[in-house]
Amino acid sequence: MRVVLTGATGFVGSRVLRRLLAEAGVTGVTCLTRRPLDVRSDKLTVVQMDDFAHYEDALLDRLAGHRACVWTVGGSGSAAKDPVEYERVTHTFTLAFARALVPRLTGEFTFCHVSARRPGPGAAARRAARAPRDRTERDLTALARGHEGFVPYAFRPGGVLSERAGAAGRLLLAPFAVGAGELATALVRVACGDVPSPPLVLRNGDIRRLAR
Ligand SMILES: NC(=O)c1ccc[n+]([C@@H]2O[C@H](COP(=O)([O-])OP(=O)(O)OC[C@H]3O[C@@H](n4cnc5c(N)ncnc54)[C@H](OP(=O)(O)O)[C@@H]3O)[C@@H](O)[C@H]2O)c1
Repeated sequence: MRVVLTGATGFVGSRVLRRLLAEAGVTGVTCLTRRPLDVRSDKLTVVQMDDFAHYEDALLDRLAGHRACVWTVGGSGSAAKDPVEYERVTHTFTLAFARALVPRLTGEFTFCHVSARRPGPGAAARRAARAPRDRTERDLTALARGHEGFVPYAFRPGGVLSERAGAAGRLLLAPFAVGAGELATALVRVACGDVPSPPLVLRNGDIRRLAR
């Protein structure tokens, strides 16, 4: 199967890329990226693009034969501090891609979208800040209602810990965070259809369980 990946230069996406390339059942990975990748593989196709809000017909035709996408564009960096940019990166980009691709799909397509944990009921300000994420999840679900075969999964990790946190750190922070490797493994397993009936929304505990 062939898989689309976004965010491959990032913390989560770079780990997803390594795992996808190592997966025997994955015959090709097409990365949509705004910066070059320093990874080489016969399985890898890199499509460099500036604007993730618009997708050319020729590209969509090429992607239509893929069976899954792992969407990790986003970031907790500068975009998160600017509401307009956060909206663009979180909602506009994700929906622009999904809405453009879906009418061209001919079979099943799994869309693994890396979202983020929802703050608890007391955290009104943080909930408001997360609104674009909520809308992204909702709009992907609505899109799926009209297109049988397109199945979006929302991964909602709390924090994501690098390998440097070590096993003890991961254990200590287990209620709040997952390991980056765990998240990458769970994303790849769901994208590859390796898990029978995964939940449509995956929280820390689900992510950890699927990574075992
Ligand atoms: N890291 C965490 O602790 C954590 C926790 C919960 C949820 N998440 C979510 O997981 C997702 C991935 O996070 P991450 O930690 O891997 O972030 P990251 O390291 O900052 O990577 C973000 C990726 O998105 C790309 N990107 C950002 N803005 C873009 C734009 N305007 N146009 C095109 N590409 C753009 C970046 O490309 P460039 O390299 O070109 O900038 C990079 O590949 C995000 O949605 C994040 O909110 C992360």
